[in-house]
Parts: sequence; C-alpha cells; structure tokens
Amino acid sequence: MTANTIAANEKMNKFDGCHSVWLFGYGSLIYKADFPYLERRPASITDWTRRFWQGSHDHRGTPEAPGRVVTLIREAGAICHGMAYLITPDVFGHLDHREKNGYLRLAIPIHFDDGRSEEGLVYIATEDNTAFLGAASEQDIARHIARSSGPSGPNSDYLNHLAAALRELGQHDQHVFAIERHLAELNAKTS
Ligand code: SIN
Repeated sequence: MTANTIAANEKMNKFDGCHSVWLFGYGSLIYKADFPYLERRPASITDWTRRFWQGSHDHRGTPEAPGRVVTLIREAGAICHGMAYLITPDVFGHLDHREKNGYLRLAIPIHFDDGRSEEGLVYIATEDNTAFLGAASEQDIARHIARSSGPSGPNSDYLNHLAAALRELGQHDQHVFAIERHLAELNAKTS
C-alpha cells in the first residue's frame, strides 16, 4: 500500500517564483533539519493540533507493520508550536520525498514569537490519505510505538526526540508527553 504524495505536491505552485518561503515543522522537522535553510525560528500555527494519528510505512515502520507519527488535526482555537525554517524552493524536492507517505503541502499563516505572521507552508497528512491510522488512546499509541521500527530507526526514537525538542522550545504538548510517559512505563515493566 502506498500513499505517495510526491506527484500531488509537485503540482503545488503557490510559491513558484518566490525567492524564499517559510516552512513550519511540528514533528520530525523540528528536530531533524536535514536540508539547507536561511534562518529558523520558533513559531506556531493556530486551529490545528498535533496527533500521532498518521501511519509511517517508510520511516518508522514498514508497509506490513506501519509505525505512528504525527500529523495535524483541525481544532478551533488550538495552537500548535514548532519550528519554522526559511527555505528556498529548491528544497521542496527533498522535503516532498521525505514527507511522501501521505503528507501534502498546505499554505498556512505562521506566527512568530515576536508577533509577526507570514504565509508559509506545512506538510499535513489529512484524514483521507490511505496511510492515516486515526485516533487511539494514548496508551495504545505508546504500545504501537513500542513495537514499531523502520528504515529511519525505532518509532520510539521519533517520539522521544520530538518530546525532547518540544521541551527545549519550552512547549508543553499534553498528547506527546502523555504518550512518552506511557512508553516509559512500558519500558520500565519489560526491563
Ligand atoms: C513535520 O515534522 O512538520 C511533519 C511530520 C514529520 O515529518 O514528522
């Protein structure tokens, strides 16, 4: 099964001709910037909340046993904190490949900590992509993460790196931290 979004993202021409564009990262893009950028700043977006509801068949799981990674779910009034990167459009090719398992580029207002806002883009895996796994209890998500692993490494590394990066940003994410706590409990039981 594939949810490959490369071709769809290549058709997104909203930022064609721009010298640079802000990219908002809320998952692995916060802690793993494996692409060139001109500048980066803590930032947030509104009316979206971070959830471990997307399947990962290519990075933190396999086609037979997908892992769980974050996507954004619409929620009026919610604020999702992350990291914004000012990139040049030639970086899209790399990002489209990295985010190809269900994530589509979406234009969105990005709010910086100094009060300024700019339209930029974010990669979102919407509920209609075939890799979307949907809601589960935070305990079940922790169990799922505990048993998953893929070409980019154990699913638990993704969770732990994200939780650490959010702490470094001074941001509390109830969902991410609850799953991290459940995973630590599971590991304590099995060690
Ligand atoms: C993101 O980090 O902004 C998208 C989801 C991911 O790659 O983990």
